Amino acid sequence: MTLTIALSKGRIFEETLPLLAAAGITPAEDPESSRKLIIGTNHPDVRLVIVRASDVPTYVQYGAADLGIAGRDVLIEHGGAGLYQPLDLNIARCRMMVAVQNGFDYDEAVKHGARLKVATKYPKIAREHFARKGVHVDIIKLYGSMELAPLVGLADAIVDLVSTGNTLKANHLSAVEHILDISSRLVVNQAALKLKYATIQPVLDAFAAASADNRE
Ligand code: ATP
Ligand code: PRP
Repeated sequence: MTLTIALSKGRIFEETLPLLAAAGITPAEDPESSRKLIIGTNHPDVRLVIVRASDVPTYVQYGAADLGIAGRDVLIEHGGAGLYQPLDLNIARCRMMVAVQNGFDYDEAVKHGARLKVATKYPKIAREHFARKGVHVDIIKLYGSMELAPLVGLADAIVDLVSTGNTLKANHLSAVEHILDISSRLVVNQAALKLKYATIQPVLDAFAAASADNRE
């Protein structure tokens, strides 16, 4: 029975390689250099499909992939329908933060009940965060480079991922609120888990053991 695993290129692929290795799976090609979207492995019955990070839950939800690895940010925005999420892999760790341009008095704006323009790729997370705080916001949906928005007057604040803080610093922004800790999770198609249990469970066990090493 063929097992299809959905992964995105870049940090998720890189950080998943040791987990795949623990399950005895080695990709036949590097998606960074290959233009192929379906990549075979040393295992005749295991293949990888390379998709955009935010598309991973969709492929798994509809059963086009049996397993996938996606960030908590992406999973919250997707909503998680049809997905079993058995494992936090503790890879691609970062924080979802609110950030503003240096010099912008965020606390004062919030205190005075100002309506804030917030640019983000994560509208659901942002909306829920500001609703919890009782702050009125206009969400401006972007697909990347959020850090630019406050610099050119598109937004007062951004909601974005922060790891080292270098991107904020390079663009004269500062984090003012921590919303969530983010890491990537294994997601499994609920029907596939039942139908392909014997194939999926050993992979799940190997990932669980290998990802325990990623914990602090
Ligand atoms: P898409 O291609 O769909 O726009 P993306 O460019 O956000 O997605 P990646 O940059 O590969 O995709 O990020 C994949 C996941 O890695 C994110 O969903 C998030 O969970 C995590 N991540 C993003 N930025 C960082 C970072 N700077 N450090 C650590 N993890 C990160
Ligand atoms: C992510 C995120 C920030 C940056 C933060 O972008 O959107 O811009 O990382 O990381 P830092 O705090 O270590 O600087 P990414 O590197 O994924 O670029 P992309 O959104 O263009 O893929």
